[in-house]
Amino acid sequence: MKIISSIDDLRDQLRGQLRTAFVPTMGNLHDGHLSLMRLAKKHGDPIVASIFVNRLQFGPNEDFDKYPRTFAADVEKLEKEGVYVLFAPTEKDLYPEQQEFRVQPPENLGNTLEGEFRPGFFTGVTTVVLKLFSCVQPSVSVFGKKDYQQLMIVRNMCRQFALPTEIIAAETFRADDGLALSSRNMYLSPQERAEAPRLAQVLNAVAAEVRAGHLDVSMLEQKAMTELAAHGWQPDYISIRRRADLQPPSAGDLHRGELLVVLAAARLGVTRLIDNLEI
Ligand code: PAJ
Repeated sequence: MKIISSIDDLRDQLRGQLRTAFVPTMGNLHDGHLSLMRLAKKHGDPIVASIFVNRLQFGPNEDFDKYPRTFAADVEKLEKEGVYVLFAPTEKDLYPEQQEFRVQPPENLGNTLEGEFRPGFFTGVTTVVLKLFSCVQPSVSVFGKKDYQQLMIVRNMCRQFALPTEIIAAETFRADDGLALSSRNMYLSPQERAEAPRLAQVLNAVAAEVRAGHLDVSMLEQKAMTELAAHGWQPDYISIRRRADLQPPSAGDLHRGELLVVLAAARLGVTRLIDNLEI
């Protein structure tokens, strides 16, 4: 595997490649990330991964400085997956001058759910993803459903800017007890780790109720939030949305059987976890 940090060297290395499959990450790789590399292999060649902890997407009170950085272990895992190039730019490589041009996601997608609780987050994500795409020029790129809203926003960005990159969705990779793998799980104490699977359980319960025909959406959301709070969580949101555009379903949508997804974010101690489930 070639480890490359400069944009020019990356361009030299990938010149002439027409089927590059790209998996952007912030490192601290776990089996969820590696499942994306495996899916990428089915859709293109060579595989390019990136590791870059993107300051633009962290709020002033978020964990940029203490975000886990485990470069040597990450390299070993990517080697085993047969990744051809690891693009690991420094901040100077990717942002040699202040990044003043930014991508602004539309209000209705970018300022709801995660965007409501993390102002500027999706502007930071789309700006770095557009820049990484410009460096790698992939024909496909794989994103996890774990970050459902991110996946949807990146997909819409590609469509609206007519980028020549197809976005592939990977299923959420979970631990045996149901907890979605996340770099942030390592912040959990042993007691919190034992409690953490409740988030996925609550989402499963909501999905089961909707499938059984209980369509009082706000009652279901409220009940789920109360359940989490009763076990020491501080939920930011649990919300049932249309899969197509992440807007709240109308009564008509619910009766027509519109495809839905339930999304959640909640803090357990100092750790903020997100998860979602397609209904
Ligand atoms: P990061 O959190 O490192 O995630 C990189 C990719 O791995 C994302 O597409 C994410 O959805 C996926 N992923 C994480 N946990 C997963 C799991 N348990 N199952 C399946 N996929 C999972 O998301 C980012 O980095 C950044 O925002 C980035 C897109 C790299 C831009 O900076």
